Amino acid sequence: MRSPSKLRLALEVALALFAFARASANTTDTTDDYPQRPAIVDYSTSEAGNPFVDGWYADPDTAIYQGLYWVFPTSSYPYEEQTYLDAFSSPDLIHWTKYPNILTIKDVTWAKKAVWAPAPAFRNGKYYIYFGANDIQEGEPEQGVIGGIGVAVADKPQGPYVDAIGKPLIGAYNNSAQPIDQDVFIDDDGQAYIYYGGHGHANVAKLKEDMISFDTFEDGTTFKEITPKDYVEGPQMLKRNGKYYLMWSEGGWTGPDYRVSYAVAASPLGPFFGVTGTRILQQDSAVAKGSGHNGVIHVPGTDIYYIVYHRRPLSEDAGEHRVLCYDRMYFKEDGSIEPVKMLVKDDFVDGDMVGWKVHPEGSEGVQIVDNKLGLESHSRSGTIVALDTNFTDQTYDATVILSDSSDDFGTSAGLIFRATNVTSGPTARGYYAGLSTSGRVIIMNLGNGTTVHIEGVDIKPEIEHRVRVSAIGADISVFVDDFASPVLTLRDATYTAGTNGVAVFNTQAKFGNVSIAEGS
Ligand SMILES: *[C@@H]1O[C@H](CO)[C@@H](O)[C@H](O)[C@H]1NC(C)=O
Ligand SMILES: *[C@@H]1O[C@H](CO)[C@@H](O)[C@H](O)[C@H]1NC(C)=O
Ligand SMILES: *[C@@H]1O[C@H](CO)[C@@H](O)[C@H](O)[C@H]1NC(C)=O
Ligand SMILES: *[C@@H]1O[C@H](CO)[C@@H](O)[C@H](O)[C@H]1NC(C)=O
Ligand SMILES: *[C@@H]1O[C@H](CO)[C@@H](O)[C@H](O)[C@H]1NC(C)=O
Ligand SMILES: *[C@@H]1O[C@H](CO)[C@@H](O)[C@H](O)[C@H]1NC(C)=O
Repeated sequence: MRSPSKLRLALEVALALFAFARASANTTDTTDDYPQRPAIVDYSTSEAGNPFVDGWYADPDTAIYQGLYWVFPTSSYPYEEQTYLDAFSSPDLIHWTKYPNILTIKDVTWAKKAVWAPAPAFRNGKYYIYFGANDIQEGEPEQGVIGGIGVAVADKPQGPYVDAIGKPLIGAYNNSAQPIDQDVFIDDDGQAYIYYGGHGHANVAKLKEDMISFDTFEDGTTFKEITPKDYVEGPQMLKRNGKYYLMWSEGGWTGPDYRVSYAVAASPLGPFFGVTGTRILQQDSAVAKGSGHNGVIHVPGTDIYYIVYHRRPLSEDAGEHRVLCYDRMYFKEDGSIEPVKMLVKDDFVDGDMVGWKVHPEGSEGVQIVDNKLGLESHSRSGTIVALDTNFTDQTYDATVILSDSSDDFGTSAGLIFRATNVTSGPTARGYYAGLSTSGRVIIMNLGNGTTVHIEGVDIKPEIEHRVRVSAIGADISVFVDDFASPVLTLRDATYTAGTNGVAVFNTQAKFGNVSIAEGS
């Protein structure tokens, strides 16, 4: 027999190296081995507006696949209607492509409903989704009820994902943890972990290389309880600078105080048990409620992190009415995470106006043109397009481009703030700061129609003017282009809180670069 040729030996070494490189590729971010890095995106929040995609979704988890950012959420509807998953990808976290039905129950024989909290992972050239299904309750598996955490596999990030094992991967309660809300994390040494658990208990288990079966811990057990104090559900593991950050959700998911806390450990197994977390995300009475169940996007090669989460718009009460948002997550020098500030911005660069509502409903002449929100109204009662905010003390910035229309006292465009009842013109309350091409700026009390105004401000048609409203206590100021000194002020304390919007009365205008921040 001939000894192996040098060429063959070299080939074998090369293949082994290749396999090693694959196994040790950057696994902590669930990146695949596609030779493309995603764009470095350095934002303070979703600059093109939160929610960043349209529709009721919840429980987002993330991955970086093929040079794109991916978000995998729960479809947020009544349990019986939760029979499918959609996914979203983006090159820049601004423009999103939706992939409907990446996984449906027709490809998972045992799943009937409540398909929840997809967790993506990539290994061995395959894409995995771990999902909860059927919402099984304690004691039910013993009576033959099938459900729990399943695993599905696909050749492409967007699926179609099909059941990998024909049954739940975790089909029973262990350590009192409901088998839902899984997160899969692959450590730098290649060991994969699954974190999961509802009903106030969290477990971790080791996944084998095949990603569809378990290894045991040294003591022979499969499931190790790691429940932190106040833990409810939604664990998420993040590794940064060699430290393991476990994040989780607290409170009830239908309530306003659903929130995210985290704890740090030197090992992926904790200790987290009994540890009190530090709260980093929660409701803000000016922005949204029920903010929780997060994923994290780490921009590769940088120290830029985003927390991706769901929240409930202020005016929504139904449990399922949850939307997908992201905000910047900053780390302090000592490695701790700063509390997340949910910012309110929209530069319309994504070409949509998700999160804005048109009043009166169905008004014509509302469209996105050239990264601006264009409004046209031929009525003196006007068109208002409003967010679902509830700011009190605020700094509200936007750019306004007025059209060259004939001007009289009923013709203006501008910003609505501390407003309520904007759905109905006559009962609308709050304030309006309006601009006219004649050079007039007004502040109107929408409740009694009283206005203060000034003439001679340098306002030209078809020019982008930067407008700022500052409302601190009873002090209301309007700035045009120069933010050092207001053109008009009013002291009025009639309205203390309400929504923000843009409005046109008997004219057309374009609005851009909206930003509303608490305080001055
Ligand atoms: C998980 O819990 C089920 C139900 O109690 C039990 O049958 C099973 O042995 C447990 N599995 C492990 C690995 O502890
Ligand atoms: C993995 O990610 C880290 C941090 O983003 C980076 O420094 C490192 O170069 C990456 N490794 C590979 C193999 O891409
Ligand atoms: C807005 O805030 C005011 C006072 O802070 C409060 O009374 C009102 O209920 C809030 N509205 C909404 C929709 O949250
Ligand atoms: C808002 O409108 C409703 C009915 O349209 C009315 O009952 C309510 O008093 C109004 N609120 C204010 C603050 O005017
Ligand atoms: C009407 O609006 C003006 C201007 O905001 C305000 O000063 C006044 O108090 C209001 N009057 C009533 C009765 O609300
Ligand atoms: C919005 O404003 C910021 C800061 O003033 C500016 O850098 C950015 O280019 C503006 N974006 C648009 C779309 O106008």
